[in-house]
Amino acid sequence: MSKKNSMGSDVVDGFACKPKVLDANKPVMYSAIQLFVCDGHRCKETHQDDIAKKIRAIIQELGLNKGTNRIKVTKTACNGACRFRNFAYIYRNAFSDNFTQENSFAAWKQVHKWSDEQWREMIIALSEGKIPEFAEQFKVEDKVYEDSQDL
Ligand code: FES
Repeated sequence: MSKKNSMGSDVVDGFACKPKVLDANKPVMYSAIQLFVCDGHRCKETHQDDIAKKIRAIIQELGLNKGTNRIKVTKTACNGACRFRNFAYIYRNAFSDNFTQENSFAAWKQVHKWSDEQWREMIIALSEGKIPEFAEQFKVEDKVYEDSQDL
């Protein structure tokens, strides 16, 4: 049996998600929210889980892997925020239904501590334009650094 990717397409042997048949009209680049999960070596020291894989499964289960509320998960290399490991953040598409300037960006630390139920709560809240209350203690403030400040 052929392996399927998150969009339901048959996958080329040896690849994780490369579709056997390319549909040039598929809106692969649209997402209402893009969630970046750091997979850099220092963040990975905190846990053994594949956090991105776990989140993708929850998103798929909730039906938010497609359509106008699509949430896309991307693993990244180091974000230069290792002190916050394990680090994750979102950007919201300005053309999505729930976009506001206030909810356009959010970042969190120690996301490896979140349970599956907390991730589910986060994904549902994000799709509604919100951030769940539990995440407040993990929030990383966005801040403009001046030239004279240390990073
Ligand atoms: S390894 Fe994750 S921010 Fe550096």
